[in-house]
Amino acid sequence: MSRLGIYPGSFDPITRGHEDLIRRSLAFVDRVIVAVAVNVAKQPLFTPEERVALIKEAVDDSKVEVRTFDGLLVDFARTVKASVIVRGLRAVSDFEYEFQMALMNRNLAPAIETVFLVPAFDLTYLSSSLVREVARFGGDVSALVQPAVQQALKRKYGR
Ligand code: PNS
Repeated sequence: MSRLGIYPGSFDPITRGHEDLIRRSLAFVDRVIVAVAVNVAKQPLFTPEERVALIKEAVDDSKVEVRTFDGLLVDFARTVKASVIVRGLRAVSDFEYEFQMALMNRNLAPAIETVFLVPAFDLTYLSSSLVREVARFGGDVSALVQPAVQQALKRKYGR
């Protein structure tokens, strides 16, 4: 039986850090669904459709599917029959929030395990919010995101 993982997030936009984690997750799941959250508290820069399109451009792998989801992550995970939730842990600052979320998700769906992955060393301090901030003020984000994402940021910010 093949093992399906789910890698949820806002992906606003996808960065090379996310790409790294998707690749790493395929070491222990057969397929991964990159699950783009539609209803996040934050006001996203990109629409869900734009975020999905950018992920598809950045990741070209038949083992990776990109979907949006609304509502609880565990409900979506159950619907698609995923057994593992994959999240990245970059620094101590991520820990509190990630731990809370993993425990709550386990309360809601005990059969689904959360697995934390450590990102590549040079991508550890990368986040979508930092990328947006740099791009907004015209900084160079070419080392941090795929060219298609860089272009999309330029269009959004008009620079
Ligand atoms: O990339 P992010 O913004 O840190 O991702 C957070 C995300 C989307 C994974 C999380 O907010 C989420 O799962 N939202 C869906 C609603 C839900 O299930 N919340 C968690 C209950 S503990």
